[in-house]
Amino acid sequence: MSTKKCFPNNFLWGGATAANQYEGGYNKGGKGKALVDVIPAGENRREVMEGKFHYRDLPNDCLYPGREAVDFYHHWEEDIDYMIEMGFKVYRFSISWSRIFPTGEEETPNQEGLDFYKQIVRKLVDNGIEPLITICHFDMPLHLIEKYGSWRDRKVIDAYLRYCRVLFETFKGKVRYWITFNEINMLLHMPFMGAGIMFRPDEDQEKVKYQVAHHELIASALATKLAKEIDSDYQIGCMLAAGQFYPYSSDPRDVFDALEKNRATFFFSDVQVRGHYPDYTKQKLDNLGITIDMLPGDEELLQENTVDFISFSYYASRLTSADPEAGEKTAGNVIPTLRNPHLEISPWGWQIDPLGLRITLNALYERYEKPLFIVENGLGTKDELVDGKVNDDYRIDYLQKHMLAMHDAITKDGVRLIGYTSWGCVDLVSASTGQMSKRYGYIYVDKNDDGSGTLKRYRKKSFDWYSRVIATNGASLFE
Ligand code: BG6
Repeated sequence: MSTKKCFPNNFLWGGATAANQYEGGYNKGGKGKALVDVIPAGENRREVMEGKFHYRDLPNDCLYPGREAVDFYHHWEEDIDYMIEMGFKVYRFSISWSRIFPTGEEETPNQEGLDFYKQIVRKLVDNGIEPLITICHFDMPLHLIEKYGSWRDRKVIDAYLRYCRVLFETFKGKVRYWITFNEINMLLHMPFMGAGIMFRPDEDQEKVKYQVAHHELIASALATKLAKEIDSDYQIGCMLAAGQFYPYSSDPRDVFDALEKNRATFFFSDVQVRGHYPDYTKQKLDNLGITIDMLPGDEELLQENTVDFISFSYYASRLTSADPEAGEKTAGNVIPTLRNPHLEISPWGWQIDPLGLRITLNALYERYEKPLFIVENGLGTKDELVDGKVNDDYRIDYLQKHMLAMHDAITKDGVRLIGYTSWGCVDLVSASTGQMSKRYGYIYVDKNDDGSGTLKRYRKKSFDWYSRVIATNGASLFE
């Protein structure tokens, strides 16, 4: 095994965004209303995203940051020019479902919406950038939520497949990599943001969540089947909000608690990669008295249509204890965690753990032995624009350490990692907080938390740094 100081040939370096936080143009080009259009900034955001506060009960003066976002809708050429300049090999973006099917139930797609993405794909392909498309990234037509209660109803699977068919047929021969659902496990933690679920009074929320999970897993399997029928070269991936749970102490109860918390994430990839419900989930559901409504043939569908690669986001590891009083809590990517005293934290309280990325890569690779793709990682923090410049050495430091951990995983542990797209390569709206000030990009966008700003773009210091990483296939990380 080679330990040379660069990454494998053809390693896919790039960046990632998602329509719901980046694209804006929410009422342009025939687009229908989407889930994100009713998620406000400010104090009610969290409860709305958790499905506990109905968006219809929000005050009239709410700011909805996803509606304009940073207006990629009108800046796509300029933004892709920046990606070309940085030398991206891959660009991960999501398609807004309600731009293609405004209500989700039309017989034919909205041509204007489709044309918007066609020109993007054309420009990427013409410039040697591989598109990586997320079909559903915290996004769906609001109509499907209001009419069917979202993914509770199997009719939404049909709507999703109609949408997938249009994408797979339109982009045949131009796009190779697809992700069926962004962070599919997030639906357990943020049911409305993750899957459009608003809870009704007195219902068994765990049962609803697992039923919804089943429907998304079936939709993902059917999309995988359809993709292969349309183009056998298509590569389909699952996508997890990953980051291993560590035990808070060596107390076996803490170790067991970490094992169970990790299972909540692995459940999804176990089904999507291995093709069946793991026994630990079957037993858990049985113990909870939950029966999932399945149709005859569902189990075969899952078994016969597993994914080609495993993609995931990694921002930090997580820490847990069996003792509810133990430790101190800190923020993290939605899923609750304790503060790990060995780690630094960002101004938003997210922990910084590059070795945790190597641990997570190993955990996934040992479990599945399939190609891995890191499709989100990065430091969300405040930047200061001074005389048109941003000196984001802190971001470079974060990224550099994580990339070195990736290199270790590849060259010392034998992990098969095929690519890396850092999150929010152009600054965009934060999913958890709705803020603009929590920035991840190599490109600064002049937009503020209150929605003001010119939307003008500026290269940050990390822009040149990342360009060099890509140009040297990682060798510059060792200089
Ligand atoms: C992931 C999501 O959970 O983390 C993204 O897929 C999100 O949509 C990213 O933006 C970073 O989280 P945040 O809350 O800092 O935007």
